[in-house]
Amino acid sequence: MEFKKVVGTRRSVRWLKPWKPVEREKLQIMLEAANRATRSMNADYPRALVIQRDELPMEIRDALRNPTTSAELDLAPVYIFWYFDVEYPKGVQDRLKELVAQHALSASHGWSDAYVDDFLWPQVLSPIANEPMALMFMGAVETGIAICNAVNAAVDEGLGTCLHAFTATKEVKDAFGVPDTWIPVWLQLVGYPLEEPEAGGQRPRKPLSELFFEGHCNNPWKEDPEVTELLKKEGMIQQPGPFPYREQEVKMLSRMFGLPE
Ligand SMILES: Cc1cc2nc3c(=O)[nH]c(=O)nc-3n(C[C@H](O)[C@H](O)[C@H](O)COP(=O)(O)O)c2cc1C
Repeated sequence: MEFKKVVGTRRSVRWLKPWKPVEREKLQIMLEAANRATRSMNADYPRALVIQRDELPMEIRDALRNPTTSAELDLAPVYIFWYFDVEYPKGVQDRLKELVAQHALSASHGWSDAYVDDFLWPQVLSPIANEPMALMFMGAVETGIAICNAVNAAVDEGLGTCLHAFTATKEVKDAFGVPDTWIPVWLQLVGYPLEEPEAGGQRPRKPLSELFFEGHCNNPWKEDPEVTELLKKEGMIQQPGPFPYREQEVKMLSRMFGLPE
């Protein structure tokens, strides 16, 4: 799928075919997309744990239920638990020097091994790594960037996916052998869409002019109508929800699983 269409077609898909497994190949593509995401310092922030729903004991599935996530756990055949490892600063000097050796970071922009070892690490990065708020902030942001690639890769593979809050209770942690240094971020549920992939239409979003600015924060970004039209043609901007039959679609799906209408 073209990039613009992937972005435009992505929805939080909560109706998944519980009976249809996801090919390992597609899961690998999602993980590779996450691993290829941009990241600061070329550090390894994200960790992912892939679990097949049917291999999970029911008491663990039940322990994962929370006020915003329940039926989805029964419908999704695959769970990807996303974490970041708080030990990500370890080895950052070497990771940066790999980039220097590769001329991705070059002397033209001030980079050298000595710059990394004698200035950047001790003066700039190490203090950040020792600041708990900064450590958590960066871990969460960087993992979010990686997850975003995995989400878009799933859409590109024809899958449906949605991110969910999850609590790493002790029983969940013990069952999965999650290391103490891994901080839970989001649970990504994955499967084949049971609802239409458009999931009732594109979600409401404010216009660019309310969110983005140019030159000064009192100068809203002005959309070029021709570009907006192009994005509609190429699928980044799609028909807004709800589709006329959306209510009926959700009703019928609910009935299928005996869920409240
Ligand atoms: C980081 C993140 C966490 C989310 N957590 C939940 C959740 O716990 N339960 C849920 O039903 N949806 C969750 N969502 C989905 C959002 O509610 C959804 O993105 C929102 O409805 C906007 O729709 P869209 O993703 O289809 O564009 C989450 C989305 C993100 C990005």
